[in-house]
Amino acid sequence: MTPATSTTSSTPSTASSGISTVAVIGFGAMGSGISHVCALAGMDVIAVEPDAGTRERNLESIGGFLQRAVDKGRMDAQARSDTLDRIRPVGSLEDAFGAQLVIEAAIERIEVKQEVFRELDAGCAEDTILATNTSALSVTEIAAACERPERVCGLHFFNPAPVLPLVEVVRAERTSDDTVDRARRFVLDIAKEPIVCGDTPGFVVNRLLIPLMNDAVRVFAQGTASAEDIDRGARYGLNWPIGPLALLDLVGLDVHVHASEAMWEAYREPRFSAPPLLERMVKAGKLGRKSGEGFYDYRD
Ligand SMILES: NC(=O)c1ccc[n+]([C@@H]2O[C@H](COP(=O)([O-])OP(=O)(O)OC[C@H]3O[C@@H](n4cnc5c(N)ncnc54)[C@H](O)[C@@H]3O)[C@@H](O)[C@H]2O)c1
Repeated sequence: MTPATSTTSSTPSTASSGISTVAVIGFGAMGSGISHVCALAGMDVIAVEPDAGTRERNLESIGGFLQRAVDKGRMDAQARSDTLDRIRPVGSLEDAFGAQLVIEAAIERIEVKQEVFRELDAGCAEDTILATNTSALSVTEIAAACERPERVCGLHFFNPAPVLPLVEVVRAERTSDDTVDRARRFVLDIAKEPIVCGDTPGFVVNRLLIPLMNDAVRVFAQGTASAEDIDRGARYGLNWPIGPLALLDLVGLDVHVHASEAMWEAYREPRFSAPPLLERMVKAGKLGRKSGEGFYDYRD
């Protein structure tokens, strides 16, 4: 199928970015998932994480994930240990300076990300690509901390990164064509599916998904269908692997409300504003799976 118009085509060219060493900044939920994916693709990974406990815990959890693949016969024990050996968790940002690509996945705060990018821009080689995994901040604003904003782009992975194939390659205001092209080829190298998009709030997928999840909550709040039936509707009528309310419980209701507020600020379209029911649930501590209760009960 050929699109009628295409300004930012993501049709694969030759997949080979030439990138063999990646630094990942932040080894939390996303950073550890991204490190896992890059190591599986045969790349050396320097994972910068200030918290020693997080470094240890998340390396162990990657090891556990890979062990399950061995147990199921999808990987041999040698490949598991080689993959783990390729990930080097460290505490200092300077250890990232030698990488060919840096993917920042630190906490979602603009001042933290700008400081990290300022230091990377000064310390890394000129042709190192600096990417951010931000979901809701402006890539252009993060890049503004750099002397060379043309080598800055977004690489937005989805959670859990080892499972979900999509990566949005975000072209910020000053990102060069060469940076977009190399970043897109890197995504192909790690066996993921790239789409190229502009630096607008929610990029492509969250722009579609956030209002849809809010609408699912509005249907539930009307009292015309149960949570189970709304989710069954999406699973059996739209072929979603998980319904929107179960997905909200997985993402965290607080995280979703925060993202909705940011999108509402940006677009001022009513579908982006979080429904009052969601805000009440967050105030009551019903945050989804992580608190044991959301649209479903997980306490047993
Ligand atoms: N969780 C998701 O579903 C999801 C999906 C896509 C993108 N993202 C984005 O990924 C980024 C990380 O999110 P997460 O869910 O992994 O958060 P997280 O809290 O699990 O991990 C963030 C990690 O960054 C570390 N950190 C804090 N300051 C740092 C610094 N200056 N240098 C290096 N590390 C630092 C923290 O110690 C923590 O371990 C955010 O920008 C978020 O918007 C999250």
